[in-house]
Amino acid sequence: MCGIVGYIGNENGAPFLLEGLKRLEYRGYDSAGIGYVHRGKIKIIKKKGRISMLEPYLPNPLKTRLGIAHTRWATHGGVTDENAHPHLSQEGKVALVHNGIIDNYTFLKTKLKKAGYRFLSETDSEVLVNLIEHQLKDDPEKAVREALKQVNGTYGLAILFRDFPDFLVGARLGSPLIVGIGQGEMFLASDANAVLGHTQQAVYLEDREIVVLSSEGYRATTLENKTVNKTVEEIDWKVEDLDKGDYPHYLLKEIFEQPEAVERAYGGGGRLLPDFGTAKLGGLNLTSQDLLSVRQVRIVGMGTAYYAAMIGAYLLEALARIPAAAENGSELSYRNPVVDKEDLFLVISQSGETADTLSAMREIQNRGGKILGICNVVGSSVARESQGGIYIHAGPEISVASTKAFTSQVTILLLLALLLGRKKHLSLAQGKDIIKELLAIPEKMRLVLSGAPVIKKMAEKYKKAENFLFLGRGINYPVALEGALKLKELSYIHAEGFAGGDIKHGPIALICPETPSIFLLAKGETEGRMIGNMQEIKARQGKVVVISNYEEPRLEGLADDIFLVPTTREEISPLLLTIPLQLFAYYMALALKRDIDKPRNLAKSVTVE
Ligand code: M6R
Repeated sequence: MCGIVGYIGNENGAPFLLEGLKRLEYRGYDSAGIGYVHRGKIKIIKKKGRISMLEPYLPNPLKTRLGIAHTRWATHGGVTDENAHPHLSQEGKVALVHNGIIDNYTFLKTKLKKAGYRFLSETDSEVLVNLIEHQLKDDPEKAVREALKQVNGTYGLAILFRDFPDFLVGARLGSPLIVGIGQGEMFLASDANAVLGHTQQAVYLEDREIVVLSSEGYRATTLENKTVNKTVEEIDWKVEDLDKGDYPHYLLKEIFEQPEAVERAYGGGGRLLPDFGTAKLGGLNLTSQDLLSVRQVRIVGMGTAYYAAMIGAYLLEALARIPAAAENGSELSYRNPVVDKEDLFLVISQSGETADTLSAMREIQNRGGKILGICNVVGSSVARESQGGIYIHAGPEISVASTKAFTSQVTILLLLALLLGRKKHLSLAQGKDIIKELLAIPEKMRLVLSGAPVIKKMAEKYKKAENFLFLGRGINYPVALEGALKLKELSYIHAEGFAGGDIKHGPIALICPETPSIFLLAKGETEGRMIGNMQEIKARQGKVVVISNYEEPRLEGLADDIFLVPTTREEISPLLLTIPLQLFAYYMALALKRDIDKPRNLAKSVTVE
């Protein structure tokens, strides 16, 4: 969850370290720090709070050819200066920044205490740095190796040594780490965003690998000291993609990027075969026969990706008539899941690094299940560890709350359902109609986005409400859940999503004039029942807000507010109905002066379970 950067080179690395930290701040933002070698000593400067709180404490100008830096999301120990990274070893010989959790740190700490070590922080990371120092004689790489062999847990590490200023060491187990390859300089980072603008060339470390960097190159080995020949890969995002442009927040930019993101997800048409009413998805690594023999599809994700998975399950059942279910990754791993070799598992993750999702994926693989990854970040763990997969190509999603990744994930799931559907029961005419509707979505999304000022007024009207209900049915039930999640995480207002059918089974007790209900109304099978739900709420003096994809005369006198989006097939309606909910959450957060791109307590990529 935290962000790591490291630099070794012939130039001053301080600008890279600071800029890299700022680019990774979305990964965790409790505290930040920097460590570097200066006149034969390791200097550490770290502070709780944002990077802007750290900057006044840095020397001006800060110059270094070797440094590490970190932005933290607290796991072990509170948010204090002492617990911030980098951590320095007792004798000042080693400093490190760490992502992950050392599970056996209490045991190691006791052992080190017996050897005379004293600790300044409550963190597991300080135990690790002292463990490395304890192993250190004349070979820093060996010391890291020996220390890591004693560790149970996860880590992404950047480590520097006072007496070996020509080395920077990185190591990975369960927490991402890449090496950026420059000219006369090398970079370490937990996220490719950090190195953009400095290099487009990267090497992705695998679990249990250690890398030693000098200004001229890198050498990778396994924990057991076997040389690994790594492939240098091109990072496909550009530094310009990280620019907020004229938007006040990344979140708003990313909401407005959805028409282009969805277009990229269907490959600008390249993933569609309109004449055959189907989709073509390279990278699946499955033959037609494999696809035809899929007995059941299970789709794993967390948070917003889980809601996309729920929509995917609906689409696969509706279009391909294949039994399908969404699976919450954190639950799946711990319930002894039944994995049938004829099941297809889809693993969805924007970052491709979500620990709960990854551990579910590994558990499924361990039991012989086939995995297809659907992710945004190229080279991420989900992408590398699955048998095949599909990139959503949404571009960098910087705001902590996920928006464009969601609609892109839903688009990919629609393509997959179309592909499987056309191999089974879906007629050519239906396939063609779905493609026609999908191709019209970007323009329809632009229309929805042009209504942003109306949603802004709606948010102003409801900004004092302390509770909200979101209601949907069928394919728009997960959209209701996503709308509630967006409102919670961005505005800190309590919101719950329910299936319309659930409301009478308890949640209706919450209805009162102060608790608005936001309804998703889509032309199709569920419309009558949804209107019935609205009447039940209205009869109990609840406020009724409707986001509808058609003009419904029965809303007259029933709805307090209505926002219309263009009509489309019910299966595709989530792509349009989601956007007003994202905008509503954004404008509520704006009205309440929340920290929109970095909401409290959250981090973009949840790399610990
Ligand atoms: O990177 P992932 O898609 O795996 O992330 C999954 C969730 O952590 C993520 O969607 C989270 O719920 C977001 N904060 C939602 O906006």
